[in-house]
Amino acid sequence: MNEPSGQTSILTKSASGALIIDGKAAAAGVLAEVARGAAVLAASGIKPGLAVVLVGENPASQVYVRSKGKAAETCGFHSVQHTLPDTTTQADLIALVQALNADPAIHGILVQLPLPKQIDAQLVLETISPDKDVDGFHPVNAGLLAIGDRKRALVPCTPAGSMILLQAAARELGLSLSGLDAVVVGRSNIVGKPMAQLLLAENATVTIAHSRTRDLAAVVGRADILVAAVGQPEMIPGAWVKPGAIVIDVGINRVAGEGLNAQGQPKTRLVGDVEFAGACARAAAITPVPGGVGPMTIAMLMSNTLTAARRRGA
Ligand code: GUN
Repeated sequence: MNEPSGQTSILTKSASGALIIDGKAAAAGVLAEVARGAAVLAASGIKPGLAVVLVGENPASQVYVRSKGKAAETCGFHSVQHTLPDTTTQADLIALVQALNADPAIHGILVQLPLPKQIDAQLVLETISPDKDVDGFHPVNAGLLAIGDRKRALVPCTPAGSMILLQAAARELGLSLSGLDAVVVGRSNIVGKPMAQLLLAENATVTIAHSRTRDLAAVVGRADILVAAVGQPEMIPGAWVKPGAIVIDVGINRVAGEGLNAQGQPKTRLVGDVEFAGACARAAAITPVPGGVGPMTIAMLMSNTLTAARRRGA
């Protein structure tokens, strides 16, 4: 899976002239392509199977897991969800992962994070068989990505989806990523580090900035490509953005809105890590929040599951 079909329709011009990158439309394209691929594979007797494991009752995790199950069904996958209580022991969770590793009907396993504190999340992630690790979090997959072996790696979903959006915008702008200055703000194993690897694989000159970076404004100001993945509402002012940059905002932060909702509670709204209006006035292209990178994460999870099923069948 490289790019969604009909990619040009994912870009619209804002009043300031910046291209707004529509992640919802891009994700719909990816999902349609995955569904077609799954149908072809099913005709040869392999139905892609995704198991999602949820431990505890974190409301945000419940929403994500439901969306993942729904997307899997839309793609025509065999979809199973295991919901375990908050009191689940590490040994029981590991035993479940091992059973899923051995289940031939399951090609992808996702254990939703965060996990309750009695469980060592890293140990659980490392128990998932690397060829079923559709999150791409296992050290084997992180290593394959680091050595540039995309053929064997499963790539983390959010960075993989971000790259599709970035490449669609670059294509429209007539830019090659090769040689451009890319700055990734955030160094998580889930987004920042794998994103930097993907940009490096496209021959961008990559800087990873983080909470200890000196003069972040100056570093951001050099970025032809800016990827913000810190999880802090609007921490990057629009005025820092280099004119003509492509901005990929991975942050999804809930903040107080204005007024009350229908239930009489204070309204909230979602914002990214980048101050959108200001950035929009300077950037050549930018992802909105919501509706940018977010929808791509689930779409790429389906794409990874199809990839894992194809590899198993090969
Ligand atoms: N929790 C929040 N995002 C993710 C994700 O991408 N994968 C998993 N497993 N858990 C998450």
